[in-house]
Amino acid sequence: MSSLANKQILVGITGGIAAYKTIELVRLLTKAGADVQVVLTEGAKAFVTEMTLQAVSGHPVRSTLLDPSAELGMGHIELAKWADLIIIAPASADFMARYAQGMANDLLTTLCLATEAPVALAPAMNQAMWKHPATQTNLQTLISRDVAIIGPASGAQACGDVGAGRMEEPVDLFKAIEQLLAPIQQDLAGQHWVITAGPTMEAIDPVRYISNHSSGKMGYALAAAAQARGASVTLVSGPTQLDAPQGVKRIEIKSAEDMLSACREAMVKPADVFIGAAAVADFRMKEVASQKMKKTGDSDEMQLTLVKNPDVIATLSQENTAKCMVGFAAETQDVIAYAKSKLERKGLDLIIANDVSRTDIGFNNDENQVTVLSKDQQWTPPKESKSALAIELVELITQYQSTK
Ligand code: CTP
Repeated sequence: MSSLANKQILVGITGGIAAYKTIELVRLLTKAGADVQVVLTEGAKAFVTEMTLQAVSGHPVRSTLLDPSAELGMGHIELAKWADLIIIAPASADFMARYAQGMANDLLTTLCLATEAPVALAPAMNQAMWKHPATQTNLQTLISRDVAIIGPASGAQACGDVGAGRMEEPVDLFKAIEQLLAPIQQDLAGQHWVITAGPTMEAIDPVRYISNHSSGKMGYALAAAAQARGASVTLVSGPTQLDAPQGVKRIEIKSAEDMLSACREAMVKPADVFIGAAAVADFRMKEVASQKMKKTGDSDEMQLTLVKNPDVIATLSQENTAKCMVGFAAETQDVIAYAKSKLERKGLDLIIANDVSRTDIGFNNDENQVTVLSKDQQWTPPKESKSALAIELVELITQYQSTK
């Protein structure tokens, strides 16, 4: 049985010549057993008719936000909740811009804002419009919000140009939708993953501390991705603004020393995988002042005496508590060379190297680009949202584990 059987799919069509192909997509989806409802933008109506889409989907077609008769039946919020997936095909440059801005000035953008279901876009536009920095910036914004982008393909365009911007063919869109809705396999059931995330916070006195800019997003995304595949996950986290992913056991700590003890405690139940995604402060105060430190005398300088923190991942690796040890290497130069030496020095199986000097990725950003290194291999997944990357990293770690 197709993974699409009984799935509720909302197909949005925006203004573009490729809109005629979406009729075939709707036909393929309904043939596979999906329940499909179609929403047209004003622009789409110049290319396809409500009548045709009503006939192929078997449902009335919606196109206006404030439609009294439709609000009586299925209001727009209900429609947003009804969908298991929203696919916009073709997605015009104008639609991408409005969606990236969070606008809700027609039915389709409103549905995209109101839904909690995954949203996929199949962009289609002239090649120069696709290449334009404004479109590319909107694209990056949407990717960082986990909108799935299918295509565009390259080739001859309706306007006579040649280049990237053609909508993917209906059969390819169909396959991509099947993949997006395929149930996630629970192949990590029975495994225990321990993951550190966020910064550590090292007290100076009762009101001050030493810390760093880590947001914790990468570690949290990894925890969610491993949990989704059935692993039991313990997330040892420094202070962050993030909610614990559903089903993940979070232990909140502040200092590096606390992080080490919390990990040791978590690993009493042996871990299959340990991932050190935390940005652990390398040093802490030799002595934390018990009272707020005061400016004394006339000196413009102040000296703090710091001592080295334990290296959480290197210590755990020596103690042999996890079958597979995975570290991160945050570097600003010679990324691969420094990462390789950290892999060896800390006794790790894999190291995920990222360049934190780049402002478009890494620390405090929604996107990341990394290179994963083992003793003798190297992988570079594309730049993508931290949650999409986390899914790929969990897959890579799982595959590596099976070859150990
Ligand atoms: N790490 C750790 N404990 C520390 C320092 C780092 O567990 N005290 C872990 C991090 O979680 C990461 C890896 O070690 O998985 C590398 O962290 P990074 O900050 O890049 O390296 P450092 O060892 O701190 O080296 P340096 O600051 O000299 O680059």
